[in-house]
Amino acid sequence: MTDDLLALKTETDAALAAAGDLRAWDAVRVAVLGRNGSLTGLLKELGKVAPEERRARGAALNDLKEALTAAIDARRASLEEAALEARLAGERMDVTLPPRLSPAGLVHPISRTMEEMAALFGAMGFAIAEGPDIEDDWRNFGALNIPAHHPARQDMDTFYVPGLDADGRQRVLRTHTSPVQVRTMLNQEPPIRVIVPGRTYRADHDATHSPMFHQVEGLVIDRGITLGHLKGCLIDFLRAFFGIDTLPVRFRSSYFPFTEPSMEVDIGWNRKTGELGGGGDWLEILGSGMVHPKVLANCGIDPREWQGFAFGMGIERVTMLKHGIPDLRPFYESDIRWLRHYGFSALAPAMLHEGV
Ligand code: DAH
Repeated sequence: MTDDLLALKTETDAALAAAGDLRAWDAVRVAVLGRNGSLTGLLKELGKVAPEERRARGAALNDLKEALTAAIDARRASLEEAALEARLAGERMDVTLPPRLSPAGLVHPISRTMEEMAALFGAMGFAIAEGPDIEDDWRNFGALNIPAHHPARQDMDTFYVPGLDADGRQRVLRTHTSPVQVRTMLNQEPPIRVIVPGRTYRADHDATHSPMFHQVEGLVIDRGITLGHLKGCLIDFLRAFFGIDTLPVRFRSSYFPFTEPSMEVDIGWNRKTGELGGGGDWLEILGSGMVHPKVLANCGIDPREWQGFAFGMGIERVTMLKHGIPDLRPFYESDIRWLRHYGFSALAPAMLHEGV
């Protein structure tokens, strides 16, 4: 290779090495191989070369062209690779999770109340029964002695579910946990002693009502059950649940279609301070009564042989009273700050020593 060709090779190699990106690289490429490029110029001048030298010069130019083209292509490949690597480095993200510094979660106050009720009533020999959220109108109303046009059906602001079930009964979202009384009596021989915690639904929504809420139902069926058993059981439960040994409890005559006699149960509190236990005011807390003979009969239990009592209460309501929670709505908002304030450690489950 003659000196001028060697010089072009050296010059081009240096320019390629100095080209830091694809734009600079392209400028080098055009300057060498472009229409007015240095190599192109040399090739054009080949015709002017003396015929005896032309062959050797032509071969040398061809070799040079091959070498330059290869060097230019190689530089492009390395610049592209570097650009890709730079982009990947820029877009890198850390997909590993940092360790959680605080406990993963807390027990919701509703769950906590249910656990406490299971513990307290469990100590009194109650089992837990469950039923479906979508009920039929016979179990939710009819079997409980609430006939078709009874005002209680309107009072409860029922959500009706379109369509009938397999037995041709209207489907409803259960308005209370009482239909599980019916299910339990139909499925189980007495004696029966169950509580039924669960979700219930009514078309009602304001600061103290939610369309979905929770109740706990209680049912005892045995021989020789009297109002005295009902009162003793509920007084023991209420005093243990609220943790006040001297909590005043009052039974006030009332009406429910499914019990006879029926009683509303009040606890003593101070209306002004909201403090439970004293103060001379009464706060209604639950409904109860002796299971109506018609309900027993509807559920295949002979009322001449078996008697029983039942009760029902709102879980949110007793939870709010016990823990001084002023508003119902945050119960369902999944706000972790609220839960940190009112929630309970999963490692401190409801203990029987709190109980009866
Ligand atoms: N089911 C009633 C309600 O939702 C509560 C209730 C009252 C349940 C008296 C009972 C009971 O078992 O005996 O308002």
